[in-house]
Amino acid sequence: SFVTSEKMLLDAQKGGYAVGAFNVENMEMVMAVIAAAEELRAPLMLQTTPSTIKYAGLDMYLANVKAAAERASVPVCLHLDHGDSFDLAMRALRTGYTSIMIDGSHNVFEENIAVTKAVADACRPSGIPVEAELGKVGGKEDDLDGGEGNGYTDPLEAKEFVERTGVTSLAVAIGTAHGVYKGVPKLDLDRLAEIRKVVDIPLVLHGASGLSEEAVVESIKRGICKVNFATELRIAYTDGVKEFLAANPDAFDPKKYGKVAMEHVKAIVETRMKMCGCTDRV
Ligand code: 13P
Ligand code: ZN
Ligand code: NA
Repeated sequence: SFVTSEKMLLDAQKGGYAVGAFNVENMEMVMAVIAAAEELRAPLMLQTTPSTIKYAGLDMYLANVKAAAERASVPVCLHLDHGDSFDLAMRALRTGYTSIMIDGSHNVFEENIAVTKAVADACRPSGIPVEAELGKVGGKEDDLDGGEGNGYTDPLEAKEFVERTGVTSLAVAIGTAHGVYKGVPKLDLDRLAEIRKVVDIPLVLHGASGLSEEAVVESIKRGICKVNFATELRIAYTDGVKEFLAANPDAFDPKKYGKVAMEHVKAIVETRMKMCGCTDRV
């Protein structure tokens, strides 16, 4: 069913697990991720970034995800990932996205608060949950470059930020980065626990592609209720296409390589859902 992210995140917080949030680019990725959720009985967040939205349009992803979600028996929401302006957040809201992130983390504190509060206030009457980000997640996600990612989230700032904006979930910077990691990332788990002590809304971990199972599990123990995976799904999808075309260079039917690509995406998503502990929750 097609739902908002409100209940699934609160359920995850109560249950001590995290909802997996997966970035999708096209119909095949939508179908593959939902197939994994159905098989493992997992609540699911599908999400699109601004550059993905530029590729096919909010209405296209909404129609695609809504149709697929309505066939599914597990709850599925469509989330705007790294919404980079008030305007885009409002367009996603009007289109029918059922969860919204406004990422003002590249702004100074007061400006981040201002744009985040504006989005939270606008979404509240429709009951659409709003995620924000405080501190800088490293690496390059979409068109937003987090740089070195040394701006870790300050616990007391996080508390003030949440109180003043009224957001319903918060992405924190504790040493993760978007994209694949060059070395082994060192997560500041003590900082995460400190944030959780003073912030009681669900916390979100970005940049999970390439994290170890232990890093994800330990983060969830300290308050993470949503874990974002993007890069490794794109890699899996493309590996599937490449593998098929290498073995079948004369193939020309998109359904043929689409099927293999979906199998690759479904397989990686299943491992990530197990890491998050969100299987058999619905
Ligand atoms: P990765 O690309 O590292 O998985 O990051 C995903 C993410 O944070 C999407 O917002
Ligand atoms: Zn992210
Ligand atoms: Na990553």
